[in-house]
Amino acid sequence: PTIHIITPTYSRSVQKAELTRLANTLLHVPNLHWILVEDSQRRTTLISNLLQETGLNYTHLNVETPRNYKVRGDTKDPRIPRGTIQRNLALRWLRETFSENSIQTGVVYFADDDNTYSLELFEEMRYTKKVSVWPVAFVGGLRYESPKVNTLGKVYGWKTVFDPHRPFAIDMAGFAVNLRLILSNPQAFFKLRGVKGGYQESSLLKELVILSDLEPKAANCTKVLVWHTRTEKPVLVNEGKKGFTDSNVEI
Ligand code: UGA
Ligand code: MN
Repeated sequence: PTIHIITPTYSRSVQKAELTRLANTLLHVPNLHWILVEDSQRRTTLISNLLQETGLNYTHLNVETPRNYKVRGDTKDPRIPRGTIQRNLALRWLRETFSENSIQTGVVYFADDDNTYSLELFEEMRYTKKVSVWPVAFVGGLRYESPKVNTLGKVYGWKTVFDPHRPFAIDMAGFAVNLRLILSNPQAFFKLRGVKGGYQESSLLKELVILSDLEPKAANCTKVLVWHTRTEKPVLVNEGKKGFTDSNVEI
């Protein structure tokens, strides 16, 4: 099966660095298709060139998150999820590209551009029947969060402090979905409005599976193969008002 990696990305000083690191990881993974979705009005040459130069099998899309969605701390919508519109566009692309009865087998994984992924993770997810799950490090104020797995190898809950009663108390990096399940449930998208913090993942997954469908991976969820790392914003104070360095040099 092909692994379809969906990555939302937005312009900022570390963008090329993040995507270079992620591309270097993905280059080690056989049979992979990278769907990179820019949060921008148009596809940029920076990203077009980067993708081309990696030699990866990719699809380059773009959709800009509307301004009003980006405002944080808004009283009506206190937390607009990041990358959501981009992930939904990629889901639509998959449904338009692969028909429900195509022979293409695949798995879909949402990989943010700043996390750290072990190569083992991709082979764990490759043979996902419906939805596979595993622990994610550095989320929810813990060293790692994890699905709870019983002695029969079934998921029965969530080892999280933050709201363990969510239907699927799992970070975006903690699950993968069989392509066929995405195609056979064309109504399933990430909800944009009225989603409380931490409920975005549930908004998609509850359209696709129930708890007992989940397939624990990474040695019954005892191994950490993905880290929710976040990159520090570089200090560029010496650029001054006009910019000290040559703005024609791409970073
Ligand atoms: C956490 C979760 O791990 C994300 O999966 C989730 O989307 C996010 O919270 C959220 O719901 O707000 P976090 O590290 O806080 O992640 O978010 P970022 O890594 O900053 O953003 C997630 C993805 O969206 C990244 O790939 C990023 O490049 C992209 N993004 C972010 C955009 O495309 N546009 C933005 O304006 C911001
Ligand atoms: Mn992140």
